[in-house]
Amino acid sequence: MLSKHYEDQLHEVIYQIYPRSFMDSNGDGIGDLGGILQKLDLLRDLGVTAVWLCPCFQSPCDDNGYDISDYRDILNDFGTMEDMDRLIEGLHARGMKLFLDLVPNHTSTEHPWFQASRQGRDNPYSDYYYWFDEPPNDWQSVFLGSAWAFDEKRGQYYLHSFAKRQADLNWSNPKVLKEMQDIVDFWVDRGADGFRIDVIDMIAKDFQEGKNGFGPHLHEYIHALFGREKTKGLFTVGESGVTDIEEMIRHGAEERGELTTLFLFDHMECGREDKFTRKPDSMKSLRDRLLHWQRETDAHDLLHSLFLENHDQPPMISRIADDGEKRYESATDLAAMVYLMKGIPFIYQGQEIGMTSARYGTISDFDDIESMNAYREFCQSMSEREALEKINFGSRDNARRPMSWDDSGKGGFTTGTPWIPLHSRHGEISLEKDLKSERSVWRFYQALLRLRREHEALVTGRLDVLSSREDPFLVYTRTLGDERWVIVCNFEEKQQISLPFPCEAPALANLSRKTEDGTYLPYECAVARVR
Ligand code: GLC
Ligand code: CA
Repeated sequence: MLSKHYEDQLHEVIYQIYPRSFMDSNGDGIGDLGGILQKLDLLRDLGVTAVWLCPCFQSPCDDNGYDISDYRDILNDFGTMEDMDRLIEGLHARGMKLFLDLVPNHTSTEHPWFQASRQGRDNPYSDYYYWFDEPPNDWQSVFLGSAWAFDEKRGQYYLHSFAKRQADLNWSNPKVLKEMQDIVDFWVDRGADGFRIDVIDMIAKDFQEGKNGFGPHLHEYIHALFGREKTKGLFTVGESGVTDIEEMIRHGAEERGELTTLFLFDHMECGREDKFTRKPDSMKSLRDRLLHWQRETDAHDLLHSLFLENHDQPPMISRIADDGEKRYESATDLAAMVYLMKGIPFIYQGQEIGMTSARYGTISDFDDIESMNAYREFCQSMSEREALEKINFGSRDNARRPMSWDDSGKGGFTTGTPWIPLHSRHGEISLEKDLKSERSVWRFYQALLRLRREHEALVTGRLDVLSSREDPFLVYTRTLGDERWVIVCNFEEKQQISLPFPCEAPALANLSRKTEDGTYLPYECAVARVR
């Protein structure tokens, strides 16, 4: 049984913002906190209860802010501490929360800790990072190449699991844990209501077993961060490499005092062979992976996170559904499928207007460090055209193009020159266009979130699946007491779908047709109360 406090977290609806690409308020082409402030009413109207901001702290931005050089100050491009205070105030005044992005695994090499650490072996910071005379193993960087780099000044190698200028912190040094606790407390005192934690499992290394993550002290560290008197009960979501339920329980079972929920990445493999290679796929594969984790988390009283995309992922709609002619149907069908399951919804900016992947004719239209490294490597073994094809498919920039607000020249994002080229479909897809259309993705999201608010069964109710694995569609119900709802999501082919009980007229549907004969068009969905 979930406690009341724990179960209450299911009522959050979290909207993820990539500040650099959301809204520019001063015309320098870079999104900022002032821009976010302008959109708070809109987010509240959508039904959002909390905003998660990707890192907005001082940083040289080699990895767009995931390389922090000062955890207690705001990136100049994004504004000032006063802007952050105003944003927190603006959110709280509207009854919304703020979740910050905590990056505990690594800092920028420009961070004063690293600058001190590289000076030598006997200063207070010398053990803040991993230093070795020779690389102790052959770990690879997530962004390609060796994870070990030589520092001339110190004359030793340091570990960087990501970019060369992102040095991994040494958590076996108790001072590092203390620093991170202080940073968490600093932001809690300033008004933060919770945290998304970057690559949480990697903070504990297992040099013995040769594993860069899930080390023996992982849960000690997490507990020390979030299980203290001051931090207990904070909302926390860990970006996680968890692939089995036992490990998930250790992170997320309520009595452990670690994390509220986790992002699992199993379903992010839908529609691709690897990060940069497409695989023909359908919503079926998404359905099966989602249902698997629904069953597991439910059986173990864990809170599950419901998400389809984030700032590292090309939109799901472009991988397994139709992002062309049936873009509206696909976007709304996906939303009904995932956000009426049991868990905490996370919506990524642009998803609520059915934003798709983008396409460019040259590599200079890209920015992401991971994509740039990958492109260079691809070009060793294939033509530039083939390499670009891979980047167009898998680049994280697919999720980082400026938000398309309206149909003005710069998509309403900026009056200046955007830091990265606008989305290649910005003239076709925008919030303004969407709201004018009778087939509005935004309004569907709004209606779905309203329905969840008004019917507890859709939030905390039991989930049962009626369709079978062979069916090219999904039918499930949510039940609480004698209130029962049925959710029907058809996939790419027209289908006859019959239900074993009579229902009221749909309270939510993406096509306003009469479906009483049980035919469903491609990507049609309907949500109705069982009579
Ligand atoms: C996480 C972030 C990603 C970042 C990486 C290194 O995966 O989501 O954007 O590049 O960690 O911090
Ligand atoms: Ca700006």
